[in-house]
Amino acid sequence: MSCVPPTDAPAPADCASLPRRRLLCAALATGLGVPLLARAAEDPSKAPAAVGDELAFASWDDEARAVTPADVVLNAAPLSVWPRDPVSGVTRENARLNQILLVRLDPASLDDATRARAVDGMVAYSAICTHAACAVSEWAEDKRHFVCPCHSSEYDPAHGAARVTGPTARPLPALPLKLDGERILIAAPFSAPLGAPAA
Ligand code: FES
Repeated sequence: MSCVPPTDAPAPADCASLPRRRLLCAALATGLGVPLLARAAEDPSKAPAAVGDELAFASWDDEARAVTPADVVLNAAPLSVWPRDPVSGVTRENARLNQILLVRLDPASLDDATRARAVDGMVAYSAICTHAACAVSEWAEDKRHFVCPCHSSEYDPAHGAARVTGPTARPLPALPLKLDGERILIAAPFSAPLGAPAA
């Protein structure tokens, strides 16, 4: 697997060992509070996610293309995906705050608010931990929880990515989805500010 992190993230030590697409390639956060809007003016690949963007695999993935519903397997570990401008085709993959976790769960297991943001059981969240902004890159398969490798914060994607355990105080921001044929689109902005709270 070719596994290259966003340009504003440090390279992980063992990136090559990560399973294809299912775990994230970004490492510890440094320098968050990234001025995304300023960078967007210089480089559209650093622009924030926008309503109407389609979810896509990164250019460094095995297949750089839009994600389809068939890619998102029920109860499997989350996919690491990015927003892509459907007009220009630019994937917004060079700002680590744009990294998204996409997972499909049994719709019956979702709480009402999560179900309202989901499409066919697929739910999406920011991949950036709300404790200290590491990339949330692990999956507790038995509980179907996201786990941050830095300080073991655990989030429940069936319940708004609410904190289950660990030092974080906030859920992962949720990203409402909709379908347009085989494309998975962003239906509304993230539910909360991205990343760790300002110091
Ligand atoms: S950065 Fe994720 S738990 Fe601390």
